[in-house]
Amino acid sequence: QTNRQVDQNKKDQQLETFRENPQEQYLTTDQGVRISDTDNSLTAGSRGPTLLEDFHFREKMTHFDHENIPERVVHARGSGAHGYFQPYDTSMTQYTKAKFLVNPGLITPVFVRFSTVVGSRGSADTVRDARGFAVKFYTQEGNYDLVGNNIAPFFIQDAIKFPDLVHAIKPDPDNEMPQASAAHDTFWDFASLVPETTHMIMWVLSDRAIPRSFRMMEGFGVHTFRFINEEGKGRFVKFHWRPLLGSHSLVWDEAQKLAGKDPDWLRRDLWEAIEKGNYPEYELAVQIVEEEDEHAFGFDLLDATKIIPEELVPLQPIGKMTLNRNPDNFFAETEQVAFHPGNLVPGIDVTNDPLLQGRLFSYLDTQLNRFTSANFTEVPINKPVCPVHNHQQNGFMRQTINKGKANYFPNSVGGGCPMMAPEAMGGYMHYMEKVEGHKIRERSESFKDHYTQASLFYHSMTEVEKKHILEAAHFELGKVESEAIRQRMIGNFAHVDLEFAQKVAEGVGIDPPTGKVAEAIKDTVKALKEKISTRKSV
Ligand code: HEM
Repeated sequence: QTNRQVDQNKKDQQLETFRENPQEQYLTTDQGVRISDTDNSLTAGSRGPTLLEDFHFREKMTHFDHENIPERVVHARGSGAHGYFQPYDTSMTQYTKAKFLVNPGLITPVFVRFSTVVGSRGSADTVRDARGFAVKFYTQEGNYDLVGNNIAPFFIQDAIKFPDLVHAIKPDPDNEMPQASAAHDTFWDFASLVPETTHMIMWVLSDRAIPRSFRMMEGFGVHTFRFINEEGKGRFVKFHWRPLLGSHSLVWDEAQKLAGKDPDWLRRDLWEAIEKGNYPEYELAVQIVEEEDEHAFGFDLLDATKIIPEELVPLQPIGKMTLNRNPDNFFAETEQVAFHPGNLVPGIDVTNDPLLQGRLFSYLDTQLNRFTSANFTEVPINKPVCPVHNHQQNGFMRQTINKGKANYFPNSVGGGCPMMAPEAMGGYMHYMEKVEGHKIRERSESFKDHYTQASLFYHSMTEVEKKHILEAAHFELGKVESEAIRQRMIGNFAHVDLEFAQKVAEGVGIDPPTGKVAEAIKDTVKALKEKISTRKSV
């Protein structure tokens, strides 16, 4: 199948309603009545007041007045693209029954939205921030969303801290500054008080937080998910997107200048590349861990502030995504697309990662606020390409015209779902994981090491990359007014690397820390490094 043929896929047909009809030469009202004049209001005399009876004026103005919907509470600024995914071979069959991942003959349409996290819809593209990398697969078994970031670990371990994190990182509540930068006291206050953020902080201070292009950016599912095969066997899985162009960043000086000269830098780059036929391509790769090895790593697989080092579990490439078409309409597609980590298909399931568990609640909840109505799933960009058949009904802006009297289950009056035992329907089955325990608000001991991987990340950098991290820390902490916050943050950095902490301290007017904690972390890092070198795969 050529790219052109893929373009003609079902998803395109669904979006047909948004395309302008080239035959249509006339302006009309929303009722389809042709308009004779859209420049002059209907007035009583050429200098008199506008008449209430001017239905065209009222409709045009009312529609304009209602154009805005709330922007996303995070990831408000985004850029979208259509494309397709195709697996390389059948190698994943042993791990998952998700058909779109195991059948190389199957081409699955996708819609991707890249985003910054903190800034509002109108903010600049090149700020220092994590980037969202959200992919909606329109599979024949329903929509599957891989809602990832370009930074592999996350700031926090438990979703209940997410409102605190986002309040701290967003502009200050009194003056709404700064618009899209981490360089302010509240963020560093939070980071310094919550050491589990340290690993992601190191990534955010690195060049990864100022990508050169969305086409040159990695993506990570972040959490450990679960694959389930035809036999019902489960395994842990981490998802990675790797751009075929390689991973490239701006330098901070470029990023700052571009934020002023071309705030649409990343958006424009993506759009123009696709218009020119330079289609961005990303390889999907997975790390797979057997259930027996759940506790083999010295960190917890359910802790989203950790990665699985690739030296311990190598990446297995499984297929390629190509982005080959720009959206026709920003609002209808890029703005109205609604991703949700709970949009799963058979063969893929979640784990008990407490961050992921909270996300499963948050996305639908926020989308009900963003779209007012539960019927946002009927908008073409969100609608599955396979049939949707259930007894959901009514609500604001319902599009589907449900027919017949059978709006309940089970029924014998026809028109609704067939009366079958659930297991006979071949539907999604949640993984039968055994769960038991006391109700408790206490994090597992296995979540308590906040520094080893931060240190490992820092030490995996080249000298130039380390210099960039140091400069970023000087810039960011240099903007923090409170000495106590700067001091605390240096204390956290001392666990990552003593020399690094000392250099940051010198640059931001804090007494450099001395040794003990740093010695302790060196031992832990050394132990993990040894483990990595002796054990190539688990
Ligand atoms: C967007 C919540 C963690 C990736 C959002 C939105 C919310 C949210 C409310 C706006 C969604 C919308 O309006 O449609 C949360 C919560 C988290 C969390 C409560 C932690 C408990 C994460 C993590 C990742 C991530 C760990 C990456 C793996 C994204 C992306 C978007 C997003 C990519 C933008 C989706 C789009 O382009 O529309 N998140 N998030 N989030 N989140 Fe999260």
